[in-house]
Amino acid sequence: MLLLALESSCDETAAAVVRDGREVLANLIASQVDLHAVYGGVVPELASRRHLEVINPLVAEALKTAAISSSELDGVVVTRGPGLVGALLVGLSFAKAFAYAQQIPLVGVHHIEGHILAIQLETPVEYPFLAAAVSGGHTHLFRVDGIGRYRLLGRTVDDAAGEAFDKVAKMLGLPYPGGPVIDKLAAGSDDGGIVFPRPMLKKKNLDFSFSGMKTSVLNYLHNLDSPPDEQQIAQISAAFQAAAVDVITQKTLRAAEQENLKRIVVAGGVACNSGLRQRFAELAQQRTLQVHFPSPLLCADNAAMLAVGGDHYLSQGIRSELDLNAVSSWPLEQAADFS
Ligand code: KG4
Ligand code: ZN
Repeated sequence: MLLLALESSCDETAAAVVRDGREVLANLIASQVDLHAVYGGVVPELASRRHLEVINPLVAEALKTAAISSSELDGVVVTRGPGLVGALLVGLSFAKAFAYAQQIPLVGVHHIEGHILAIQLETPVEYPFLAAAVSGGHTHLFRVDGIGRYRLLGRTVDDAAGEAFDKVAKMLGLPYPGGPVIDKLAAGSDDGGIVFPRPMLKKKNLDFSFSGMKTSVLNYLHNLDSPPDEQQIAQISAAFQAAAVDVITQKTLRAAEQENLKRIVVAGGVACNSGLRQRFAELAQQRTLQVHFPSPLLCADNAAMLAVGGDHYLSQGIRSELDLNAVSSWPLEQAADFS
């Protein structure tokens, strides 16, 4: 089955062509980072407008890259949610029109399901596994028993990890998005002896809190006599990243242990973080666990990741109707509820 996949839930317009939910023939991403950087975060209305401008040529380019004509496609998969409604609607409306024009089936899927299943495009991982979804909107732990079979084990009670990276970067005067910038600074610096708290780590449950960690950075900055210099900014970045990595890895391992799972998949934009990847690799080696990370292109928002679930659902005859609406919030446990 040859699928066109479309993603527009936030600030990346993405189009991909994937065969049999496995072979990526094209995976193009038009990032809007520059557009939003001056505002220090995503401006929803601007995001929708930019999606609208680029989606047509991007799809044409994806088909060209894959050397496929529209008539050869067997279906369309698109992100239905969660995300910014206006942004989602651009991808969804395009997908509906495309599917209608080509007379091929359409299926709307969950963005986080895409992130979690992206690994199957590179390194097939057997079910069940533990998934840590760490992105700008999510920090959630799931038990994954198969495509569409997700059980929530723990989640952030306030900010998502990526959101915390971005907000801390903003406090430090670093550009948006802050995650990759903090990652780079942390890689080249020690923590200067700064230790930020690891919220919820002592609690037995599998929930996270990043808001307190963020406030600790703010308090630390307020207590400085003068604005931090370059070296201090790098040290604060390293100390913040160490705290975030500690909490994410410890809670994920605890969840895997609790569920007796030996395979872990770390997914979403924050899974690009080099400190997180390194720490997980060390811990996995010590405990004979398998920890899988998609390559950075498949960790960040992209459309190919949607095709794993999309192919599975369409192959089962599941399809979305043309009155399908976007959903801004949508629990992953209901991702396969197509009724
Ligand atoms: O999955 P994603 O591309 O979009 C959402 O679904 O949210 O994740 C974006 C988030 C942003 O908060 C960004 O700062 C963060 O992922 N991120 C990183 C890194 N690369 C992206 N955070 C930490 N380290 C990185 N290297
Ligand atoms: Zn995402």
